[in-house]
Amino acid sequence: MNISYFSNTKTMSQKAAAIVLEDLEKNASLLLCAATGSSPNILYQLLGEAYERQTTLFQKARVIPLDEWIGLATPKGTCHAYIQEKLLLPLHISKDRYFGFNAEADDLEKECNRIQKTLQQEGPIDLCILGLGKNGHLGFNEPATELKSHCHVAILAPQSQEHSMIGSAATKPTKGLTLGMQDILDSKKILLLVSGDGKEEVTKQLRSGDVSNDCPATWLWNHSNVQCLVTHDKFVL
Ligand code: GLP
Repeated sequence: MNISYFSNTKTMSQKAAAIVLEDLEKNASLLLCAATGSSPNILYQLLGEAYERQTTLFQKARVIPLDEWIGLATPKGTCHAYIQEKLLLPLHISKDRYFGFNAEADDLEKECNRIQKTLQQEGPIDLCILGLGKNGHLGFNEPATELKSHCHVAILAPQSQEHSMIGSAATKPTKGLTLGMQDILDSKKILLLVSGDGKEEVTKQLRSGDVSNDCPATWLWNHSNVQCLVTHDKFVL
């Protein structure tokens, strides 16, 4: 894992955008896996600005979400709404190039199988954009004795249920749909963005290089092409 440090989220996001655009230049039909949350916010905004400068940039790019909350009563706060607002609309990603998850499906196991099939057909993911959960999770792969390889319904850790995306939800989701650890590790390249409050301890654990299920993000040390970008305003190096 290659870790670089930035003094603020803007400079971190500029580097992240440069990486995405460079990969897109090499492969116009890039399959991008998109995390949600606050960490990739400015990155996505910068990609929108890149589109404004060159409207043909994303005309073949494909997007798959990393995860989705289960049980939100309204579309507000869903990963789908976030991705639609920050990526699909600004980058003009057409419906046939977006492989969304249906967290309202009657049979969620079937939905996981459908997502897995889509990933087999469209994948592997070329560039996987991840955020770091406060408890070290990736997507909704929460710390556990055994991590799941593929798309599954995850029971959310208490910390995940406090995430700002669902802060105003009347009923807090207790479950989520997520790509599994192997799905993430099968990506050709991974971009892990680390920013935000309350991640000091988990960042220390990640930087230690010890791979442990207690901090699923540490599994990224087993991948040969990971760029980890950290904002160090909050982290003692
Ligand atoms: C949430 C999201 C993840 C995200 C992570 C970190 O659980 N479902 O996709 O990567 O938390 O979020 P943030 O970047 O807001 O800290």
